Amino acid sequence: MVTENGSVKMKVLLEALAPGSEDLALARAIDSTRIPAHIAIIMDGNGRWARQRNLPRVAGHKAGVPAVRTTVETCAQMGVGALTLYAFSVENWKRPRMEVDTLWRLLRLYLRSELALMMRHDIRFTAIGRLGELPAQVRADLDDVTRQTSGNRGLRLNLAINYGGRAELVDAVKALVKADVEVTEQSISERLYTAGQPDPDLLIRTSGEMRISNFLLWQIAYAELYVTETLWPDFTRAELLRAILDYQKRDRRYGGLGSSDAIELEPVGLPAQ
Ligand code: FPP
Repeated sequence: MVTENGSVKMKVLLEALAPGSEDLALARAIDSTRIPAHIAIIMDGNGRWARQRNLPRVAGHKAGVPAVRTTVETCAQMGVGALTLYAFSVENWKRPRMEVDTLWRLLRLYLRSELALMMRHDIRFTAIGRLGELPAQVRADLDDVTRQTSGNRGLRLNLAINYGGRAELVDAVKALVKADVEVTEQSISERLYTAGQPDPDLLIRTSGEMRISNFLLWQIAYAELYVTETLWPDFTRAELLRAILDYQKRDRRYGGLGSSDAIELEPVGLPAQ
């Protein structure tokens, strides 16, 4: 699926980029009529980024915040419909208490500092995950930004926090059982945290790991995968644009035939049925 407003919005990005820059050259190469409707990102490698510099792991998380900002702003400027960022998994509670507390502090700072940018770019913020298990102050800040941006109609920014793909499916199935409705793909989709949003077209993972890590298990059934060795704090606008360009070269078949396969349909000597 592609966004309807991508071609209109792309102009906003092109006008914001510096003349002669690599970013502008990459943005110009993008087909504005085929912007992904939904991009999902596993932001990985903050710890390794810090270790490479002999810094504590939390310094890597802090260094990851500007990459979040650039990614969100660029997606809004080019007309991406939805962006889902994996910020904290249900498994991340196993990390040292100090690291987990720092992540909550960074998240609260981020929410406060980015509200203006969200309003400027018409971004609608939502948090997805088992939010009831989060510290009360974090929940309050999430609720606040969700409410303040609820009237915005541009990019839908989903922050996955205390999120697990299996937990999401368990929650959806529980809701189905409670509602006593027929089990169909649609009735399950309608009970996911992302209900009403298109499935991701493109899933990006930084830091080179070839894993899904329990992220959007149902929704990524037909997503195109893009894995880069770049560690999250080093993920730039240029890298995002390269991922989208790569995605636009893919032949998406959804289990059918590719556009170039149609000419090969003559019989191949199979016995008559
Ligand atoms: C994975 O890197 C990253 C996280 C668990 C947290 C992501 C958080 C941020 C990008 C910063 C804060 C985000 C917001 C939205 C304010 P890792 O620590 O697993 O890296 P490693 O695999 O190298 O150890």
